[in-house]
Amino acid sequence: MTLSDDKNWWRTAAVYQIYPRSFADANGDGIGDLNGITSRVDYLAQLGVDAVWLSPFYPSALADGGYDVDDHRDVDPRLGTLADFDRLVAALHGAGIRVIVDIVPNHTGSGHKWFREALASPRGSAARDRYVFLDGLGDDADQPPSDWGAAFGGNVWEPVGDGQFYLHLFAREQPDLNWANREVRDDFLKTLRFWADRGVDGFRVDVAMALAKDLTARPLPSAAELERIGPGPDHPYTDRDEVHEIFREWRAVLDSYDPPRPAVGEVWVDDPARRVLYALSSELGQAFNFDLLRADWSAEAFRAVVARNLQLAAAAGSSSTWVFSNHDVVRAASRLALPAAGGGDASYARDDAWLQSGGLTPAIDPAEGLARARAAALFMLALPGSAYLYQGEELGLPEVVEIPPAARQDPTFHRTGGATIGRDGARVPLPWSEEGPSFGFGSGPAHLPQPDYFQTYAASRQDGVAGSTLELYRAALRLREALRADESLAWVDDADLPGDVLAFSRGNGWRCYSNFGAAPAVLPPGRVLICSDPAGVGAKRELPGNATAWLACG
Ligand code: NOJ
Ligand code: CA
Repeated sequence: MTLSDDKNWWRTAAVYQIYPRSFADANGDGIGDLNGITSRVDYLAQLGVDAVWLSPFYPSALADGGYDVDDHRDVDPRLGTLADFDRLVAALHGAGIRVIVDIVPNHTGSGHKWFREALASPRGSAARDRYVFLDGLGDDADQPPSDWGAAFGGNVWEPVGDGQFYLHLFAREQPDLNWANREVRDDFLKTLRFWADRGVDGFRVDVAMALAKDLTARPLPSAAELERIGPGPDHPYTDRDEVHEIFREWRAVLDSYDPPRPAVGEVWVDDPARRVLYALSSELGQAFNFDLLRADWSAEAFRAVVARNLQLAAAAGSSSTWVFSNHDVVRAASRLALPAAGGGDASYARDDAWLQSGGLTPAIDPAEGLARARAAALFMLALPGSAYLYQGEELGLPEVVEIPPAARQDPTFHRTGGATIGRDGARVPLPWSEEGPSFGFGSGPAHLPQPDYFQTYAASRQDGVAGSTLELYRAALRLREALRADESLAWVDDADLPGDVLAFSRGNGWRCYSNFGAAPAVLPPGRVLICSDPAGVGAKRELPGNATAWLACG
């Protein structure tokens, strides 16, 4: 297979996110690596994805799972070499799969040569100007410049011992860069070229909304005032207007390639009208919307999310993005069994209280969660736009709640003294086979412990088995090809259908029916192409509860 020559491949791509440390371990040290991914290219090709997005594989102290990058233009020696990377890209391209890499521009790791230089340099130096250093408050300058809280707990300001503090919106090992500094900007343009020159087809941009900062106000607003200000032009660091200048510069570089390289921004901005600004063709091209992964399991909520995002993407000249799972949220097969949170609440995607209880309170029904996750996947794969899948969802993996505290890696867990459990449960290495010390992940134990029940989810156990989650994804991704030529969607409002059923048709005459209720619903005439419930649509044409089916109509 070769790569298609469609310049717009990304508009409707099925993109598979790989968290490299937990995908496949080729050399048996317990950590997934690039050669491990290369060894699984056939699996990815058979799955039928159009692209893979590689979460960071760069040199890193792993304070935040690799999102603390010490060198943006190299490979972590534990994961491989640049030559391994080139081989991986060649193997993926040879299988017709494109490659997207993660760019982490808001911060570096604290081991980055720039940060070490900044710490060794005096206040006011050029080296400190690449980051965000401010003087401490109080007579002894030992008080942080503001009371802002960091994403993983604690204050955002870290003292360096000479009266100055540096800003870290995330872990203390992730100092924020100063994007008003020309050298910082030029260095990231160089990084984009570095990877594009190596054959990378696109980019995912971490924390895209936070790069531009204005911390000149004195005193700085308090955390409570930040809440009132909200994201936008008046916020010191979230979704400021100047951030768009940065991405316009990036676009000029990305457009200098043939085909132009797409980028997708991680944009946690609630106002969808502002979020799509990042998706303009003069900027990144796409912005993640996380609305589906935050939506309650209901026909009404899903319809509202889809309608709004299709409209916004069209207005921006972009295509929509859909996500149910990634490395930051509770896996959909568990999350969708949790009680509704009222919609749009980020905590729903993480549900710390449930994790804190060891997955016990509230008690969930794993079978219901899996049924809903499978139904959600078919729903997503029928939508126009690009679908972002996260490794392991094609196996139906649940969130792992039983990781012992000593084995936890997420900085959230450690910086909050265990009060916030964090994201490790979605990052447990994949089970490839039913045997071996890490179920085929590698030849030794995995860096995060896998529960025994992972065996039942092993890829080898689902391969070729009718009704398995893996075969469902393979079949849906194959069928989905027929939906790509036409990006239109029309809702099917059929008075004969129960209110719990959401239906839409696509340009090729296909219809997608999702039953969010528990009771079966009778489907209208049409040939059933696929159904998320292994029992399928029987002779009575009943779509089971918590299921999706695609129909070829007329
Ligand atoms: C978003 C990434 O998805 C997450 O994993 C990371 O911790 C933060 N950005 C900080 O880089
Ligand atoms: Ca390894």
